[in-house]
Amino acid sequence: MTAALSDTPNAMSRRRALSSLAVLSALGASWFSAPRAKAGPVQTRSSAEHAALIETLIGQMTIDEKAGQLNLLADPFRFRPYNVNPLDAFGDPARTTDLIRRGLCGALFNGVGAEAGRRIQRITVEETRLKIPMLFAADIIHGMTTVFPVPLAEASAFDEDLAYRTARVAALEGAVSGIHQAYAPMVDVARDQRWGRVVEGAGEDVLLNQRLAAARVRGFQGERGLADRDALLATPKHFVAYSAAQGGMEYNTTDMSEATLRGVFLPPFWSAIDAGALSVMSAFNDLNGVPTSGNRRMLTDVLRGEWDFKGFVVSDYTSERELIAHGFAEDGRDAARIALLAGVDMSMVSGLYLEHIPGLVASGDVPMARVDEAVRRVLATKAALGLFDDPYRGMDPERERVVRGAAAHYALAREAGAKSIVLLKNEGRVLPLRREGQKIALIGPFASDVDNVFGPWTIWGDEGHRVSLEAGFRAAMRRPEDLVVAQGCEVEAALSGGISAAVVAAAQSDVVVLALGESARFSGEAQSRVEITLPPAQQALAQAVAEIGKPMVVLLRNGRALELSGAVKDAAGIVVTWFLGSEMGNSVADVVFGTHSPSGRLPVSFPHRSGQQPFSYDHKTTGRPANPALASEEYTARYRETTNTALYPFGHGLTYGEVRYSAAVLSSDTLTWNGEIEASVAIQNAGTVPVVETVQLYIHDRVASLTQPGQRLRNYRKVAIAPGATTTVTFRLRRAVLEFVGETGAMTVEPGTFDLWLAPSAQVGTPTRFTLVR
Ligand code: NOJ
Repeated sequence: MTAALSDTPNAMSRRRALSSLAVLSALGASWFSAPRAKAGPVQTRSSAEHAALIETLIGQMTIDEKAGQLNLLADPFRFRPYNVNPLDAFGDPARTTDLIRRGLCGALFNGVGAEAGRRIQRITVEETRLKIPMLFAADIIHGMTTVFPVPLAEASAFDEDLAYRTARVAALEGAVSGIHQAYAPMVDVARDQRWGRVVEGAGEDVLLNQRLAAARVRGFQGERGLADRDALLATPKHFVAYSAAQGGMEYNTTDMSEATLRGVFLPPFWSAIDAGALSVMSAFNDLNGVPTSGNRRMLTDVLRGEWDFKGFVVSDYTSERELIAHGFAEDGRDAARIALLAGVDMSMVSGLYLEHIPGLVASGDVPMARVDEAVRRVLATKAALGLFDDPYRGMDPERERVVRGAAAHYALAREAGAKSIVLLKNEGRVLPLRREGQKIALIGPFASDVDNVFGPWTIWGDEGHRVSLEAGFRAAMRRPEDLVVAQGCEVEAALSGGISAAVVAAAQSDVVVLALGESARFSGEAQSRVEITLPPAQQALAQAVAEIGKPMVVLLRNGRALELSGAVKDAAGIVVTWFLGSEMGNSVADVVFGTHSPSGRLPVSFPHRSGQQPFSYDHKTTGRPANPALASEEYTARYRETTNTALYPFGHGLTYGEVRYSAAVLSSDTLTWNGEIEASVAIQNAGTVPVVETVQLYIHDRVASLTQPGQRLRNYRKVAIAPGATTTVTFRLRRAVLEFVGETGAMTVEPGTFDLWLAPSAQVGTPTRFTLVR
């Protein structure tokens, strides 16, 4: 098994973002009369014909109509009531409908349904002056009717193919519901677990974020071009460094070096765009003093100038209006001017573009050319989606009924769920449990819960299809009556008699499974936490149950890494189950009862203490590196109360086998400038069950012109190993694997000595060493 590294911008070949425009064929009749959704690509015009059509339209549009194309509003008919936000300047459906009729709203979001979509589209193509089709967008984050594991959970699978497949199904269900654009993937590298939106991304590592960003973009957009009726335009977000919010507090300011920006936060966006993403969402935060939704250097110099991005930029919810609160714009007019000139093409719900673009152009504060450029980008994307050829593409109510929530989609959700689970600890091989012959007490606020299986960020999941742990366990057990269930406590409060009932249940059983953790509302937008601990009520429950002395397994439900303590930390078994979506209970049962040998790996480090945040495995060594083995060394980089390592590091995850790594072997200890060496490791499964092991390649640059992380993940591979078998995994290394972002922001490689680990996680194993020579 051999693979070369190919994830760095320098090593990857660029694919043209607008490739879908290149496959267009002959000119169709008028675009507004297509009666029904068709199978396959719907475009009928060539790219040249689309370009001509767009220029004709721009020539015909009034300035108000141009501003209208850049005006994104909430869907007036289909918006779920809880989503009506006081910040939305156009929350009134009648007013929005009137704007649509007058050609003053080019895009709508968060309404789904083929039937309603056709009704709205009919207004745009039959009643508006220029008949420009509507673009429908939606927050389809990790599934739609079928809910897949939250993105952080799915990142634990370290599996691009899985991420591709779940995004593909999400796109299928979205497209058939009349949606064209998904506000996903979130590709913000998250290194502070207090931040609530850790749950939406791929965790703390840059490479894993890059690979999953690309896989998810390809999944949403599909392989047959954007005009395919089943493709959704992907929107990597939030550009940029949104996750670097100081103190992990949502919306907070961010401040960082150019090397960190380019080495950590920009690469996943680059990978998403390289994979073909044709829209990007600008963020809420400021970055080094400049709000990102008014940041010309990021939105234009980097995105367009350096990366040649061809799609359009949409602001996040009123983020351009928030330039005022940032103290960066005087008023709405100024905010619209700054955002537009910086590179925000489409404004989300603030209405500022619609209100101010005509005046800004009339006064000369914004050139008409800039407005035309933004309109051209939006129309070109509509053309790439095939909307001028079939504005009703994908909107087929009959097909919608069959496609959404199809059995195969739920089967994929179950598979994805099982692959997303991480076994942290398994003392005395307490897991897997037997399907019969033992009494099991399932205890805790999440034992029978279905309200928290989806996670914090779903709008259209089928609430009739939510499998609780209890249901999953009972279905897996040969004698379901051997399961006794006790809630024990609420998520954040004691329950009268809860602990005593739980203790009785534990005493009557052979093994205890505690279902503890965070409710969905603990994470997601605006849900930052001060401490990443379990609520005291749950901790007390765990303590009381542990005192009964039965073997105990903790199933954690969580949207971030947690600080574990007391009886939870000391339990024989600890399993991270995140929020796994529609099939949660079945996925967990598959792992708990051994149908699936756990294979997930932590995409975020579990620290010893909350106060270690921000934390990532790839922190710098500092001038006084702490030695965890020598806690007595006082004058080192550490805290008084704990070592500065993780309790469970990034990449950690056990299997039901017994995996043993031999020492890594290099084909040579010298890598020449244009040469290649191989690094291999033999891995034995000394256990009795097959496993899937994730082999991780870490590098440390021992001396460089900028201080480097103590370890950096540079590749990984999943391998299946049969019981008793030994597999050798080989990685090919070229100098690109050693690249880092230098002081000026440019990628650089420097000759010198490097440490290399082939290991089951960060923080373990002994490195081997090689030298790069020029
Ligand atoms: C705000 C969130 O930050 C963003 O991720 C989301 O897509 C928009 N709201 C639209 O709902």
